[in-house]
Order: sequence, then structure tokens, then C-alpha cells
Amino acid sequence: MMIRPRRNRKSESIRSLARENELLASDLIMPLFLIEGENQKEEISSMPGSYRMSLDHILKVSEKLYSLGVPAIALFPAIEEAKKDRYASESFNDQGIYQNAVKIIKKEIPDLTLITDVAMDPYSSDGHDGLVDEKTGEILNDETLPILGKMAVSQAKAGADIVAPSDMMDGRVAFIRSALDEAGFTDTGILSYTAKYASSFYGPFRDALNSAPKKGDKKTYQMDPANSREAIREAELDIQEGADFIMVKPGMPYLDVVRALSEVSSVPVAVYNVSGEYAMLRAASKNGWLDYRKAVLETLLAFKRAGADMILTYHALEAAEWLNE
Ligand code: PBG
Repeated sequence: MMIRPRRNRKSESIRSLARENELLASDLIMPLFLIEGENQKEEISSMPGSYRMSLDHILKVSEKLYSLGVPAIALFPAIEEAKKDRYASESFNDQGIYQNAVKIIKKEIPDLTLITDVAMDPYSSDGHDGLVDEKTGEILNDETLPILGKMAVSQAKAGADIVAPSDMMDGRVAFIRSALDEAGFTDTGILSYTAKYASSFYGPFRDALNSAPKKGDKKTYQMDPANSREAIREAELDIQEGADFIMVKPGMPYLDVVRALSEVSSVPVAVYNVSGEYAMLRAASKNGWLDYRKAVLETLLAFKRAGADMILTYHALEAAEWLNE
């Protein structure tokens, strides 16, 4: 036997020379769930170790993330039922809890990149990402766009560095880009949820925000899990429309899509390691079936290997702590 691949695995130092990919704290983006009030920190039952937090706690965690080298957070709001309506009006209230939080976080930690969520569902009495036709129950694409535009501008005004539309309406990247530019926010970036699948792995997130659809499912706008060619089409459109970053979501079951987009994309590719994936690793390790730390680091490294440039993950804080040891 002349060729022995094991020679390159002989020692840790040789393995480190041969290693193709490395996970860094600077690859990570931490999603955080904001609630109203002060000194509030509620554990999400389907996401042990993850919390809904009031702004004071969000600030503390964000400072810690930044000091560990995590460059960005993605903030999501939990809105009280009383403030929800069919138009998601609270989403473009410049004085809303979300906008207020964005302002304060940007003021306190200006160098931490703040990514805001552009989607109706946390504010919608229907729990959908688009406006629902009252008669037919259909999700109205073009009627949703002005709402997303107003939401994005309101977030940019509050100081968001990057707005992230997670709704999957057609044409929303171009619409949001024009709305931002017209309002003078030419430097506010767009991270588009480009290939967002109609996945069962979002369950815990919908628990966290109480944002599950009241009726129906999201299959007329989120992608069919059976498809990958369609992801390339979505990516081409989003890039043409002005997306600064594109994203694949969920992560672990869609590594092939991450690979496909990373090979064709002219903009950086993000992946969202979603709530259900987090819950799986937590649950298995709680039962003693997996080594949590090793499984998390292996999962995050796999995203890098698949070609992702950045990873939204609820493991960001703990992973950054381990990487800093
Ligand atoms: C909705 C949104 C969802 C997630 C992020 N934004 C859920 C959905 O589409 O129903 C899921 C994230 C996760 O599961 O971690 N705009």
C-alpha cells in the first residue's frame, strides 16, 4: 500500500496543518428574543438554555457576545397579543418596544452589528408572514410589500445595521431596497432569507414568540423541502434585487443547499441553525445520549465545510466561550 491517507491524521499537529476549515467566533451571529419589561428572563420550554429577555438582559448578553468576538446579534420581538392586528401595525411603530431596543443597543454597543427581523408574524393576529385575505385566507404577496417596506425603514431609523426579511414574499428585496434608499438609508444592508423552507424545525421558535399561524401553514410562500434547484432561482433573484447577504434555513438538514448556493453566490452566504436543531441537541444531551459540546462544535464546523460564511445559531454564546478557552 503506497497511499495511506492516515499519514495526514497521525498527530494533532499534522491534522492541524491538513485541516481545511476552522470555526471562529467571528463566524457566529446570536439570535436573541426580546420581551417587554425590566429584569425579565424566561426560559423557553422547548429551547432549554435559551431565554426571552427584557432589554437590560439583552444588553448584558450582547456585551458578553461582543467581548467574546461574536460580531452580530439578530433580534426578534415577542409582542403581546393585544398589540397584534392583521396589518402588523405595531411592526412599523417608531416608538415600539423593538425600535426602542434597537436604539438603545446601538447606543450602548455601537460596534456590535445589529440585524433586525423584517416579517409580519410576531405582530400579526394571523401569525403569518404576509397579509391574509379575509375571505379566501390567501397570503397576499404584493399587498404585503408596503408593510415590509415600512417595517424595514422604521428599523433602519432606529439604527439597524442590516435588515433581514424572513417572509419569502416575491420581490421583497427590491421593494425594501428602494424603500430604504428613498428614506436615505443607503448604507443599511439586507440579509435575505433566500432559501427558507416550509420546515417542521421552526416549532420551538414559534413557541418562543407565540407566532404560530392561527390557520393553515406556510407552504404557499416558504419553499418545498423537496427542492434545491428552486434555491438557486431564489438566490439569483435576491442578488439581482440587491441582497447583500443570502441565507439558507434551516441548516443541518439543508447542507446540500448551503453548498449549492455557496458555489454560485457572488455575495456572502449565511445559514440559520434553527430552533428545532438546537432543541434536538439539547434534548439528546440531556438524556446523556450525546456529548453536547462536541456535537455543537461539530455541527457548526459542518456549516463552514458546506460553504457558509456566517452562522445564525442559538449556540453562539457558549460556542464563543469554548472557542475563547
Ligand atoms: C418567521 C421566522 C421563523 C423563524 C425565523 N423567522 C419561523 C417561521 O417562519 O415560522 C424560525 C427560526 C427558528 O426556528 O429558529 N418570520
